Amino acid sequence: MKKILSLILSMLVVCSLVACGNSTTSTSSSSSSSTGTEKLIMCTNAEFPPYEYKEGGDFKGIDVEIANKIGEKLGCEIEILDIAFDSLIPTVNSGKADFAMAGMTITEDRKENVDFTDTYQNAVQAIIVPINSEIVDSNDMYDKKIGVQLGTTGDIYCTDDFGDENISRYPKIVDGVQAMKTGSIDACVVDDQVAKAVVAGDEGSFKILESPYAEEEYAIAVKKGNSELLDKLNGVIKEMKSNGELKAIVDKYIQ
Ligand code: ARG
Repeated sequence: MKKILSLILSMLVVCSLVACGNSTTSTSSSSSSSTGTEKLIMCTNAEFPPYEYKEGGDFKGIDVEIANKIGEKLGCEIEILDIAFDSLIPTVNSGKADFAMAGMTITEDRKENVDFTDTYQNAVQAIIVPINSEIVDSNDMYDKKIGVQLGTTGDIYCTDDFGDENISRYPKIVDGVQAMKTGSIDACVVDDQVAKAVVAGDEGSFKILESPYAEEEYAIAVKKGNSELLDKLNGVIKEMKSNGELKAIVDKYIQ
């Protein structure tokens, strides 16, 4: 009888470990075993409202809320690791985080290093310019100085289109927007919702150009080959899409 009980118990432990991914068990087993809840570590770059940002020491935003739902559904606690955007993929690959969720766009190059879940949001790269700027669309940007967040698709596409020498890279896009104020750069390229949030925080100083610069899709990245976690995340995304939970979260932040 005792044997059967311990067998069942050990099976339960195995199941819960499997549910919460791998690096979890090695990096956090001591803290999590006391509560009985396993941990999934999410890395992000919380300089990206309304997807992820910090407010009074707390992480907020669409991605943070989706991640917490994922945790709820998989029975895991979510721990957030806030790091530079260009460190996200290496951190997932080193196993220091189970997944990266950061308004991250699926690109062919990134797909060579990580596996992406199904898409959970569409976005476009938008162009922000000072309110009196004569720039109308990206065709006017060839001899201009452009600010981007380091390592983002804005950085990659603008470097390709306008040349490395014209690109100023910032750890966070708000620094680029500040640089536009002092006149050291002429435009910033960043995801549309983030552009709206940043421009709204500085009313009357900037405008967002009408024609989008590039269209993209966001997904969650896991270590290449971690199909177990990938399948679980896809299961949750699918469920949250079909039962309206995803839309409800997005609608809280984007009107
Ligand atoms: N969507 C863009 C990309 O994947 C920008 C994402 C920036 N995200 C962030 N949390 N800073 O490159």
